Amino acid sequence: MRSHYCGELNTSHIDQEVELCGWVHRRRDHGGVIFIDLRDRKGIAQIVYDPDRAEPFAIADSVRNEFVIRISGKVRNRPEGTINPDMATGEVEVLGHSIEILNKAKTPPFQLDDEHVHDDVKLKYRYVDLRRPVMQENLHLRSIVVKHLRDFLDRNGFMDIETPMLTKATPEGARDYLVPSRTHPGNFFALPQSPQLFKQLLMMSGMDRYYQIVRCFRDEDLRADRQPEFTQLDIETSFMNEDEITGLMEEMIHTLFKDVLKIDLPSPFPRVSYADAMNRYGSDRPDLRNPLELTDVSDLMKEVEFKVFSGPANMDNGRVAALHLPNGSQLSRKEIDDYTDYVGQFGAKGLAYIKVNDATKGRDGLQSPILKFLPDNVVTNIMQRTEAKDGDLIFFGADKTKIVNDALGALRNRLGHDLGLLTGEWAPVWIIDFPMFEYNEDEKRWDPLHHPFTSPASEDIETIKGDPGNALSRAYDLVLNGIELGGGSIRIHNSEIQSAIFDLLDIGPEEAQEKFGFLLEALGYGCPPHGGIAFGLDRMVMLMAGRESIRDVIAFPKTQTASCLLTSAPSVASARQLRELGIKLVKQNKSD
Ligand code: AMO
Ligand code: AMP
Repeated sequence: MRSHYCGELNTSHIDQEVELCGWVHRRRDHGGVIFIDLRDRKGIAQIVYDPDRAEPFAIADSVRNEFVIRISGKVRNRPEGTINPDMATGEVEVLGHSIEILNKAKTPPFQLDDEHVHDDVKLKYRYVDLRRPVMQENLHLRSIVVKHLRDFLDRNGFMDIETPMLTKATPEGARDYLVPSRTHPGNFFALPQSPQLFKQLLMMSGMDRYYQIVRCFRDEDLRADRQPEFTQLDIETSFMNEDEITGLMEEMIHTLFKDVLKIDLPSPFPRVSYADAMNRYGSDRPDLRNPLELTDVSDLMKEVEFKVFSGPANMDNGRVAALHLPNGSQLSRKEIDDYTDYVGQFGAKGLAYIKVNDATKGRDGLQSPILKFLPDNVVTNIMQRTEAKDGDLIFFGADKTKIVNDALGALRNRLGHDLGLLTGEWAPVWIIDFPMFEYNEDEKRWDPLHHPFTSPASEDIETIKGDPGNALSRAYDLVLNGIELGGGSIRIHNSEIQSAIFDLLDIGPEEAQEKFGFLLEALGYGCPPHGGIAFGLDRMVMLMAGRESIRDVIAFPKTQTASCLLTSAPSVASARQLRELGIKLVKQNKSD
């Protein structure tokens, strides 16, 4: 039906007869001449109809935005002064000879170039929203990225293997989406939170190098970088250690950025241990474009009379940390109060600070609500340790370690953005040496920091049992610009160690058998040492597209409350369906 895409026309097509199809982006009547901006996937071309050709002119006059049309005409140079340098096709236009309306369109629910359309409206009419050039570009980029990743993995001997969607729960820390079974009343499948167990079984099957671009389902609180269904690039290998796996993955990400975005990422990616990341950035996904760092001052505060500081400084799970902000003394009282409110969201009970006006004057050159509580030697030590200079400001957080890290880690990010401190465009970093477990205060037990199949760094089970809090794992995460892009580990390949880890996690032999019996059994039939990683594909494309939300790179995403406004899912099931499934609904209380 067409000879060219609209967006591809340029001066090389001058004097050619072309046929184009697309949507009416805009129609303008310029005193007797009608201009139609015709849009397709590749861009926009300007078509001109003059009244000499009465019939096409009349049709052109009648079309409205988003009508689908087909035109023919001759490409010509735009007249002097009407060239549009912002448009790819801005040097040419098509003198329209014919026009055919392929389909009319109702007035669209919003104008494509309106910046202020409510998200809910965009999602309800997603097919209109996706016509926006930026959305077309995002999805195109996604397709290119997927192709590059597949090509790289193919070159490196990986096999694309599908794993079941109707399966048993995989523990990745979120709630499961359950699917009732009709043939086994009262039983449920779980949609996979990841293909973790299947990819491990594939290694036991001798597949050696597996990958899959795979949908995962997690019923968890949603954020800009979290959707209830999302896509992983999931990878598993046999007979490779963590350096070999992270090395190959680094090469893959390098090649991807180089080929697709013409960007040279740093090489090699820096590696930071989990402990260092928490100490210096308050987070295990630090944005290394941000030059600000935390400094631990717990040891200095043990004896001070200010209980707010000495309390946490003397606690096992407490911390006092400083965040040094160069030139920060320019912050107004109001700004400091706002930041104090901000850290409050993370549980911080205050945000002490010292402004450095004139360091040569000792404590007289400092300004702070807490100075009176701190002896000279402590003040001197703080100044030395943070290397604060005149005009700088030092913030302090004192509380349980988790609260201090969450609060100052978030403040570090916020200051970095508010004050425009970020340097460089891309900052990848591997986080390594993760702890095996984290203590769950509510349930009074140890939880796996990743998943329960992660191999401990040392296989000395007695030592691990004696001090679970200090056991490290063979896990690694890849973080890019403060976003966790991927995570993986070397797995346990020995059934005794796997059982011992289940035991430590309070998963008793019966529960382990019921949930993971098939894995434990498989480990006994010849399991190679293996390990892998999974990347969040949506996040990867979001970062590459320079977007703030993964919704912008997913064709049909869900809302904040995990629903689809376009199809109105989830929705009620018919009485018959429920009967077949043996399901009886209980009335929900409003407060539930
Ligand atoms: P993990 O749970 O870290 O690891 O997931 C891997 C990556 O998937 C992305 N991701 C998400 N993206 C969008 N929305 C979500 N709700 C969401 N949850 C996770 C993140 C994350 O880094 N089986 C292990 C991997 C392994 O050990 O090989 C796993 O699933 O980018
Ligand atoms: P107060 O004695 O409560 O007025 O607190 C003195 C200063 O310490 C104020 O600047 C508070 O914001 C700050 N502050 C209070 N609690 C904490 C805390 N847990 N961590 C850091 N600063 C705090």
